[in-house]
Amino acid sequence: MTLRHFITTQDFSRAELDEMLVEAARFKRAKLGEDLRGRAIALLFFNSSMRTRTSFELGAWQLGGKAIVLAPGKDAWGIEFEPAKIMDGEPEEHVAEVARVLSRYVDLIGVRAFPKFVDWSVDREDRVIKAFAKHATVPVINMETITHPCQELAHALALRERFGDDLRGRKYVLTWTYHPKPLNTAVANSALLIATRLGMDVTLLCPTPEYVLDPQYMEAAKANVAESGGSLRVSHDIESSYRGAHVVYAKSWGALPYFGNWGPELPIRERHKHFIVDEAKMALTDNGLFSHCLPLRRNVKATDGVMDAPYCFAIDEAENRLHVQKAIMTRMLAWSGR
Ligand code: CP
Repeated sequence: MTLRHFITTQDFSRAELDEMLVEAARFKRAKLGEDLRGRAIALLFFNSSMRTRTSFELGAWQLGGKAIVLAPGKDAWGIEFEPAKIMDGEPEEHVAEVARVLSRYVDLIGVRAFPKFVDWSVDREDRVIKAFAKHATVPVINMETITHPCQELAHALALRERFGDDLRGRKYVLTWTYHPKPLNTAVANSALLIATRLGMDVTLLCPTPEYVLDPQYMEAAKANVAESGGSLRVSHDIESSYRGAHVVYAKSWGALPYFGNWGPELPIRERHKHFIVDEAKMALTDNGLFSHCLPLRRNVKATDGVMDAPYCFAIDEAENRLHVQKAIMTRMLAWSGR
């Protein structure tokens, strides 16, 4: 059986994604189990986390397994990723050794590695997690790099809980929101991928054409709707985008043309603070629901009124991280014949 990694949902068939979501719903009904008895997962965090760390660690424990959390460069040796590198800099060891040694200890490896925010032509290749996948002999799970597939499944499960399994025909708005820093596009890329995969009518709402996502995700989303029967459009008009929407999903991200040279992007971002999700915009929707992956700056990305409204399901989506990640861990082991 072939070793499989959970790096992007695009590597999985709709049937496989559905299987993971059904499994996640089962784990939601029965929290404790023995599915990971005697198993271990190493969780490598190159960046901060609250939800991902807590839900993976707890999820492994609730299924009888063990999670070991490592922060390379902080509480574990710094890691070199460049092939054939003369390692006379900071990192003490190469991913070729780290991935293979961890594979002798644990059954799964989770990796969180955000972009370096210097050169998008480099970051868009997702080199860190791909290097782990190349050298590991156990399944590697993406805990957020330039996509966030665990969040995708948590979001999909929450949507299905509200609308049923068939999401085709639902109007979905992925809206950019202001943030004082230029953030990762990972969750926006992921929301675009999963919403189009599920056959929804998707609007990517962003301030200017510069905020459109990387072509590799725009093209994948177009291919997804061609297969799923959904639709995809880009809009810079707030009112027409919100009108009649069933779901509004918010995220902030930095405009890719300014990647690594963020100075000129700041005034554009500052001019679009009005993209905040507020009650007036939500009133334009068709009794629409709202969510966000969290963390979220209140009254910057969304108002208190939106976050505390009954239509906000961000907390339920965050809870679903626990359930879907149990499904991801157990399915990746099963599908890799382990
Ligand atoms: N949504 C999410 O991944 O949360 P953390 O960054 O807290 O893990």
